[in-house]
Amino acid sequence: MHKLFCLPICSLTLAAFFSGCEKASVPSDSQAVSWTSTTIEQLDETAAEQLARAFDARNEMEATLKSNLVASIKADGPMGAVGVCSMIAPAIAKELNAKHGLTIGRTSFKLRNPTNAPPAWMEWVVEVKQEESAYFLKNDGTLAVSYPIHIATPCLLCHGHADTISEQTRASIEEHYPSDQATGFAIDELRGWFWVEVPASD
Ligand code: HEC
Repeated sequence: MHKLFCLPICSLTLAAFFSGCEKASVPSDSQAVSWTSTTIEQLDETAAEQLARAFDARNEMEATLKSNLVASIKADGPMGAVGVCSMIAPAIAKELNAKHGLTIGRTSFKLRNPTNAPPAWMEWVVEVKQEESAYFLKNDGTLAVSYPIHIATPCLLCHGHADTISEQTRASIEEHYPSDQATGFAIDELRGWFWVEVPASD
């Protein structure tokens, strides 16, 4: 009697043991990071609240960058502002991350700062140069959004065609960003994106 029962029970225990081992070394699907493309119409109430937070952070980053840029161009000219921007832009992102409890950044298909490379979910947005906001949901409830950035007149001082950028500004860009690709843009052209990842609130 005992032996008859033992066989299925033992093999079940063994199976559980091995599947347990498997889980420890290879993450199961639910543990792996996966992003799903979504649309604004499909967002539920929680995601809509996350979207509002993303939008606020994006607006604050744009306004803070702009006021810092204007002030430093006024004080030191565009060549001086390049140095200021190189320190200030990453610091502003960090501050907003802490303040809003999210992750914000900027990226492009032509990078000035190589550390602004896109996160994985942004890669195809960058590849197809998507001109509209894109929305993604991660399997842990994080909402990710991209916001396109276009070139306005003041941007040309540092992102215009190389022969229209002043010699001092070009020298300053070369000094801070030896692998710079972010020149040659024209007015109204897509320059890149703000991107925001907002975790689901507890
Ligand atoms: C004074 C020069 C200057 C001006 C003017 C300027 N930028 Fe930049 N831009 C920079 C520098 C320097 C960086 C790299 C900042 C960093 O390290 O994140 C940068 C980075 C960026 C990035 C991030 C992607 C990348 O290439 O690293 C975007 C997007 C961008 N600029 C858009 C703009 C737009 C749009 C304007 C006009 C509203 C503008 N910039 C005006 C100097 C400038």
